[in-house]
Amino acid sequence: MLPRTRREILEILLKGLHRLEYRGYDSAGVGIDAGDGKDWESNAKSIRLIKQRGKVKALDEEIDKQQDIELDVEFDVHLGIAHTRWATHGAPSPVNSHPHRSDKNNEFIVIHNGIITNYKDLRKFLESKGYEFESETDTETIAKLVKYMFDNRENDDISFATLVERVTQQLEGAFALVFKSVHYPGEAVGTRRGSPLLMGVRSEHKLSTDHIPVLYRSCQFFFFSSGAKEKKGCTALPRIDQDTCLFPVDEKAVEYYFASDASAVIEHTNRVIFLEDDDVAAVVEGRLSIHRIKRTTGDYPARAVQTLQMELQQIMKGNFSSFMQKEIFEQPESVFNTMRGRINFDNNTVILGGLKDHIKEIQRCRRLILIACGTSYHAGVATRQVLEELTELPVMVELASDFLDRNTPVFRDDVCFFISQSGETADSLMALRYCKERGALTVGITNTVGSSISRETDCGVHINAGPEIGVASTKAYTSQFVALIMFALLMCDDRISMQPRRREIIQGLSVLPDLIKEVLSLDDEIQKLATKLYRHKSVLIMGRGYHYATCLEGALKIKEITYMHSEGILAGELKHGPLALVDELMPVIMIIMRDHTYVKCQNALQQIVARQGRPIVICDKDDYETAKNSSSTIKVPHCVDCLQGVLSVIPLQLLSYHLAVLRGYDVSTVPSDPVVTDNHDSFTR
Ligand code: UD1
Ligand code: F6R
Repeated sequence: MLPRTRREILEILLKGLHRLEYRGYDSAGVGIDAGDGKDWESNAKSIRLIKQRGKVKALDEEIDKQQDIELDVEFDVHLGIAHTRWATHGAPSPVNSHPHRSDKNNEFIVIHNGIITNYKDLRKFLESKGYEFESETDTETIAKLVKYMFDNRENDDISFATLVERVTQQLEGAFALVFKSVHYPGEAVGTRRGSPLLMGVRSEHKLSTDHIPVLYRSCQFFFFSSGAKEKKGCTALPRIDQDTCLFPVDEKAVEYYFASDASAVIEHTNRVIFLEDDDVAAVVEGRLSIHRIKRTTGDYPARAVQTLQMELQQIMKGNFSSFMQKEIFEQPESVFNTMRGRINFDNNTVILGGLKDHIKEIQRCRRLILIACGTSYHAGVATRQVLEELTELPVMVELASDFLDRNTPVFRDDVCFFISQSGETADSLMALRYCKERGALTVGITNTVGSSISRETDCGVHINAGPEIGVASTKAYTSQFVALIMFALLMCDDRISMQPRRREIIQGLSVLPDLIKEVLSLDDEIQKLATKLYRHKSVLIMGRGYHYATCLEGALKIKEITYMHSEGILAGELKHGPLALVDELMPVIMIIMRDHTYVKCQNALQQIVARQGRPIVICDKDDYETAKNSSSTIKVPHCVDCLQGVLSVIPLQLLSYHLAVLRGYDVSTVPSDPVVTDNHDSFTR
């Protein structure tokens, strides 16, 4: 019990959403208790939903417009849920926004972060039972499903957590969910699988425990995925008493926050509990308990209340105009941090603590498979050649979604790498589970300690780039790049024939942070270049060898944040079609570095010039030959061939940033991965 006015409750919810908004969303909504009476319990017997398309500000304005909402009413107990969405199923609109509801009376409402892959089957089933849908989303099936479970309950004693457990048994895909219901006033239930969900606890008083025991239930419930069978199993409730839940000792004043990201709760509390996949967390009468359906070997039977060290300023922008810009400029430090304590530049040794127990096994493998999405995939493309060279193993680089679509054969003697900044990307995570099932050794290259990929891989390397908040991935790319290079160096550390090459690369790494600083000093020049390009519709980026990945990554950055068309083209493919696009009007950026592809790249440059193209070339700073044939050049310092891609990508990161600003886009709120960051939720009680 902690009296709060409705105004305060809405403020907390909206502030939480604002904190998540930097990721870029297109609609938002809240669900709160509707009543205005003195008794909180009767107030909680009806729910008010307010949803709006656009930014959180638009929702705020929509709330202001609601004449009939009394803001000064005080609640002793209250559960509100709020959510921002980036559309993946159905256009951004109030009806497609969360919270979603079970029916016109808002009996159950739910917010969801993630994606339900079997929602069509579920929807068909629920429609056949008479449930009517109003939105095009996958999430609405969850709201209907919980009502279905409630409508078909075997008795009235059934708990909210039990209903939610039954719902999650039917769901496939990734989700973090928080539920609210008029049938369970003041109660909250949250659960996750594959999408992050944490709980913040705020109380002035001592908490009953700092380890909440997990309550297990050992039986299965309902099955109807085939549409045919319905089986009701046992529902014995585990005992919830004062030893099995969390509450403030001697007091009732406590607030619980559910959120997908710590930034949404950090200003209220730094005491948090990270929920694990399939945990069901329930708050009933101010007490938090955590349930799981069944115990599996290796489960830790309690969840710790942790104290977060993360400060809000850590996730604030500093002096930069956006997180993306800040993170681009952080790269000398972030790349250094990736190597910190891992490379000894005096004796040319590499130590990766996270791989030391597995490196022998990895050295014996038959093939390396690098699996990732988006920018992280490009980090794999960028380092493939040096991995092949130093490990002498076949290396496959795979987009996680395609890898899964193909049911790619994977064997026990494969080593599969999962490269992911967030460590939560649904396709990468599903590919990881797929490879694990087939007995391959799994290795994570992740930035987020404690993320699903970091936890579920057999071993791995944290890239230690620091939180990446900008939606467009920048510093994670260069750190992933360096982490993969370190891995390649480790793989051949006892090969005598490789030593000169190893030394050359390690010495290259030692100067890399300074060379990155030098590239960043080209910012003004690149900004000027952006002023010449930003009115164009399209930009082509060409290169080959080590720089093909730079082309793909540069084009992705441009597409993602400037909304211009951009294409990364392998220069060796030019004559097989793409040359047709080149004329005097089409902006072309070429990457030509002094490595084994130099002569071939010069040929490509000639072909572009022959078609009246006016290429802008990213080249070595002393390459006067190339400069002669280019309309303009961006001259970057020279480094070891296999590291040069770290330097060639930075001008394109900067260029995309300036193009976006010139084109009037808010860089901080451009959506990236609609699959993982589909939705973000935040909730308070
Ligand atoms: C670890 C510490 C670091 C400390 C250093 C001192 C952590 C997270 N890191 O770093 O703070 O300074 O020791 O020696 O405590 N892992 C995966 N999958 C991944 C990433 C990592 O399974 O995707 C595992 C690793 O195998 C390892 C653990 O997580 O068991 C930590 O990895 P990492 O942080 O890379 O290890 P160190 O560099 O040794
Ligand atoms: C691009 C971008 C995305 C991510 C992709 C994978 O700027 O941010 O393409 O790289 O969604 O995300 P992670 O690395 O978190 O798995």
